Amino acid sequence: MKDIEKTQEIRINDVVEIVFASLFAKRGKTIFTPQKSEGKAFAPTNIALCKYWGKRDVKLNLPVTSSLSVALPTHGSTISITPLDRSSDVIVLNQIEINPASDFAKRLRAYVDLFRIAHQQFFHFDIAMNIPVAAGLASSAAGFAAIILALDDLFAWQLPKQSLSILARLGSGSAARSLWNGFVEWQSGALASGMDSYGVPLDVVWPHLCLGIVPISHDEKPISSRRAMQQTVDTSALYQSWPQKVAHDLSLLKMAIEKKHFPLLAGTAESNALNMHATMLSSWPPICYFHPNTIAAMHRVWALRQTGVEIYFTQDAGPNLKLIFESENTQIVKEHFPGVECIRVFD
Ligand code: PMV
Repeated sequence: MKDIEKTQEIRINDVVEIVFASLFAKRGKTIFTPQKSEGKAFAPTNIALCKYWGKRDVKLNLPVTSSLSVALPTHGSTISITPLDRSSDVIVLNQIEINPASDFAKRLRAYVDLFRIAHQQFFHFDIAMNIPVAAGLASSAAGFAAIILALDDLFAWQLPKQSLSILARLGSGSAARSLWNGFVEWQSGALASGMDSYGVPLDVVWPHLCLGIVPISHDEKPISSRRAMQQTVDTSALYQSWPQKVAHDLSLLKMAIEKKHFPLLAGTAESNALNMHATMLSSWPPICYFHPNTIAAMHRVWALRQTGVEIYFTQDAGPNLKLIFESENTQIVKEHFPGVECIRVFD
């Protein structure tokens, strides 16, 4: 492992080799041979309270900073993978067969190729998502986490969650946090291979903590988070201040979690999200995920806070807003945000 850290350019396949080294020594090539007729898994989506925005290695999805999220235990991706006796994959998403030439299919196949011997094994993927796809609701996080869990089931790897988190990250950065429920910190790590960049769950339960998904638009986002992130890192003058902001927010969030201090938790999350969007607005060409209704909902949150209601928001790479509040305010939230879906995150 020491040698690989000095390698000029570490490839995704090198990381896969490192993760499977000891299993390969035991099972040889059978590590990529199905051990049962179906691999199945569910992974929750996660909402970052301190965002991952910017990569230090684009290929390996290694982040510039650590980040911290909370999972939505009932919302995410359920995947079933069955080996096929034919020469191509079949991908079904929410009961509709996906065009093999689509970006979605290409991205999934490229990921699964990492775990096929000589690319000879094909699969039927049955994916059910109860969150909108590519609308800034972390569908890719839940998706890639569920795929790697289902592959672990199919190939009977029994890998530790930490290793699965590393592998999920290779599909989508934020997927590194979707292997657990509750609060998860994705530690940025410092190694070039990213073997120290994975999710770590926090052993805390906050029974009254709620998130509300405000349905602004379920349309696909205008620019992928992948591209938006790179454009921000490359062109935004404000991005320089982002790592410092994250370090500060992470320490505040951990303190808030430890003390169960709600305004500190949710206020820090809101400020973090707005700072992330400020880096995007200041990139060139500018990136704006705000829909007029996003802004209107933000103003409603701020107006309610003026009246003493403890309600905050966060927003990812899409127009939808996620409200953060405690269960005592559920009724008020429902009254002021018609159509909002309220989720108790520790149920
Ligand atoms: O993992 P990606 O490439 O979908 O990026 C996620 C980026 C944000 O959702 C905006 C932030 C985060 O930490 O989830």
